Amino acid sequence: MATDPWHYPRTEFRDRVLRTLLRGGADAITIYGPRRTGKTQFLLRDVAPEAAKSGISVVYASFWQASEPPVTILAHALRTTLAEPGLWTRTRDAWRQMKPKLRVAPMGIGGEIDLSGGAEVGASSAQLDLDDLIGNLPATQEKPALLLLDEIQELASEGHRGFVAGLRTSLDKRRPLIKAIFTGSNMDGLRAMFAEREAPFLAYGIQETLPPLGIEFVEHMLGAQEAATGSRADTAEAMSFLEEVDRSPYAFRRALETMSLRPGTGLREAHRLLLDEYSERQGYNRVWAELTVLHRLILVRLAEGSDGLTGRAALEDMAAELREPVSKGRISSALATLSRRNLVHKVFGKWSIQDPEFARYLRHVERTEEGSAP
Ligand SMILES: Nc1ncnc2c1ncn2[C@@H]1O[C@H](COP(=O)(O)OP(=O)(O)OP(=O)(O)O)[C@@H](O)[C@H]1O
Ligand SMILES: [Mg+2]
Repeated sequence: MATDPWHYPRTEFRDRVLRTLLRGGADAITIYGPRRTGKTQFLLRDVAPEAAKSGISVVYASFWQASEPPVTILAHALRTTLAEPGLWTRTRDAWRQMKPKLRVAPMGIGGEIDLSGGAEVGASSAQLDLDDLIGNLPATQEKPALLLLDEIQELASEGHRGFVAGLRTSLDKRRPLIKAIFTGSNMDGLRAMFAEREAPFLAYGIQETLPPLGIEFVEHMLGAQEAATGSRADTAEAMSFLEEVDRSPYAFRRALETMSLRPGTGLREAHRLLLDEYSERQGYNRVWAELTVLHRLILVRLAEGSDGLTGRAALEDMAAELREPVSKGRISSALATLSRRNLVHKVFGKWSIQDPEFARYLRHVERTEEGSAP
């Protein structure tokens, strides 16, 4: 992948993740990060090149709002990797280095790998093909293959159970030769995959949160801005702007881009311009227009970071705005509706807006409406 001067390398986190997988004994890591915090960039621009540099075969697949079945998506990703030039040499070398016990295992002679894995009984032929493809990846203990599976919460629904169970078996029986990094931006979905008693991915691997960006990110980005445009925003102002946008690399970068297109525009002004354009494109205005008043009150509260929705004061405030009583039960059912619409989710026990960009939009609307009130 071409190097992008605007990309800030998350070197420390990358090394920590790779070290944990390659030397720390973990077979999988799940990284949680809200929408647009840089999960995909991290996988593709930080992890993948570094792993590939040391001769590891890397497979990347994203399940975000996919129209194809997950088995097709992953099989395609595997075939892409398997078709890479030079892979056959690596496969051969990998087999040569393999310990005998791993090699005899597939024949069932008491190796460490149990190939009789239950999920294959009744597995679809597509799933069996997928298992073969995974088995074709060159992998040794020293150089395991690496699967990067982006937005796996999309697999949490009932309809994907068979796929997830099959994948789990495919990975399990090849431990420790296949390592995996999963990412997710929806806590409810991730929890459904990892924490439910019956969930097939239960206890598979360890969980991490994508570390928030700070001053090093700002300095890197301002350096790129200076190289590209010859001028540079003020560091302290840029850092406070980054905090204002909840440390979103997306919002920060787009604001810098807008500044370069419209010289003389400040960071905050650029952000306001973007927010208008973006909410139009994402249909936020339409979502907002269709919400009930109670839903709006709840969303704005969450966007402003107040966590108590069912405390007495909160209920009274909302009742005053609605001019009718508001019960805890009503709040819970409103939250359930908003959660089904993927507008809110629970993160570490607290309700929050799923899409941080939408949260910023809500704060913007709230301020504008307050401002325009008589
Ligand atoms: N390390 C980085 N350096 C510079 N810009 C970044 C970095 N990470 C992310 N960005 C910016 O943020 C945008 C969103 O990043 P990315 O798509 O990786 O986020 P994500 O968490 O995968 O989001 P989504 O939830 O939409 O899949 C990128 O298009 C890029 O503009
Ligand atoms: Mg992504």
